Amino acid sequence: MSALPTRIESQAGRLLSAEEIFEISREREKSLSHLLILYITTGLAFMLLPGTFLGVWNLLAISSHRTANSVSAGWIQAHGHAQIFGWIGTFILGIGFYSIPKLRRMSPFTLWAGWTCWALWTSGITLRWLTGVYRWQWRVLLPLSAAFELAAFLIFFRSVSGHRPQDSGKQAIEKWVLVVITACIGWLTTLLVNSGAALFIAVGGVSPDFPPGFDQRFLVLETWGFLVPFVWGFSAKWLPVFLGLRPLRERGLLVAIGANSMGVVSAMAGRMEGAAILLLMGIVVAACALRLPETPQQSAKIKGVHPCFPTFIRLAYFWAVMAAVLGIWASIAQSSQGIWGASRHALTVGFFATMVLSIGQRVLPAFSGMRLLFSTKLMFLSLLLLAGGCLLRVGAEILAYQRFAAWAWAWLPVSAVTEMTAVTIFAVNLLLTFASRPPSQRVQ
Ligand code: HEM
Repeated sequence: MSALPTRIESQAGRLLSAEEIFEISREREKSLSHLLILYITTGLAFMLLPGTFLGVWNLLAISSHRTANSVSAGWIQAHGHAQIFGWIGTFILGIGFYSIPKLRRMSPFTLWAGWTCWALWTSGITLRWLTGVYRWQWRVLLPLSAAFELAAFLIFFRSVSGHRPQDSGKQAIEKWVLVVITACIGWLTTLLVNSGAALFIAVGGVSPDFPPGFDQRFLVLETWGFLVPFVWGFSAKWLPVFLGLRPLRERGLLVAIGANSMGVVSAMAGRMEGAAILLLMGIVVAACALRLPETPQQSAKIKGVHPCFPTFIRLAYFWAVMAAVLGIWASIAQSSQGIWGASRHALTVGFFATMVLSIGQRVLPAFSGMRLLFSTKLMFLSLLLLAGGCLLRVGAEILAYQRFAAWAWAWLPVSAVTEMTAVTIFAVNLLLTFASRPPSQRVQ
């Protein structure tokens, strides 16, 4: 429950009693939980159909034609946008609206911002997907979708940053908050570049697809420049407690953010080799700053989740390191489409999706009205299948696309279906959790 204000006046100017203040706080908590459930359910919908289903469809086509170029760039980009912005972006907005004002003990913000942001964001992502797949009226709808997404982000940013903490004079800003602010700058830059590119293409382009060279750089911005710092920020906030880790090395985390930001800027300037080395430095320093490789100082807090939770968090960081290592290989190899694909997949599925499946099933039941996760066994199954599917996909993509082993083409559909099953189980587990009654409302 958020910190109770000590003195509140009603709209009529009368001082409220302690009971009335408690009631207002309880109602606000309930509204925030409803808003969170709306965002998470929307994110799951984007992840399942426009994201994962289209991704599996693309991969089946690639595997049957035995060439990565057999699928239209529009369909691949529509899949990527639905996953990065539609799934993970929507989750971040929901968790941000719910938790940031509480964590920073800010004064309450008006809830209309949360609903307006949801309407704009959801319309933007939906229009973008339809434009990529159906191409109907794309010269108008592509820039419009980008403008909706940008407007939604600005509303979000203003809401969570516009209110000063109630005790702002006394406290230095925490390091994890600095990392989240860097992530917000990355997000804003991504949406500005997206809007500029959408407008440019709408005026002078021949199709709504981003050209391959630009798309490659844009992907670095949206993944390493936007999502990676978000994961680090929330890792710094939650993992020391959840995993019983030794205290965060704050300066180390800031060094990691510096290296990562320089890597992103280098990639945007087209210097992929230097960028890949900086990104590797950043992720290794971040994992060490979080003290993930060291023995924990306390036992992990695994009540309500599967005991394997800490193992999968470490596995996610291992995948992020692998993504950066593969990025270095891809940047120096000739015709390295399969290695780039494997690197991107190690990051998107191995790091982001594993973190979302682990942390999401840890925090979202409590945020959605102090519920308990529907099933810890389903949590384990979803993470196990995701890990297996990711390993198969990363391995097969290098072996097949780079023409090292023809038999690896047959692994790709297996990896796709395994990952699809994993994320579907995750979605079902969360939806059943939201549909269940919180323990406090259960009849004894
Ligand atoms: C069932 C799981 C998934 C399947 C089958 C799948 C499939 C694909 C395929 C076939 C491509 C085309 C490039 C390539 O061959 O590597 C691709 C690209 C991509 N995927 Fe996935 N994917 C999955 C999950 C995800 C997830 C969870 C994310 C993000 C969180 C993601 C983000 C992306 C991005 C950003 C691209 C690049 C899009 C572009 O080129 O603009 N994918 N995926």
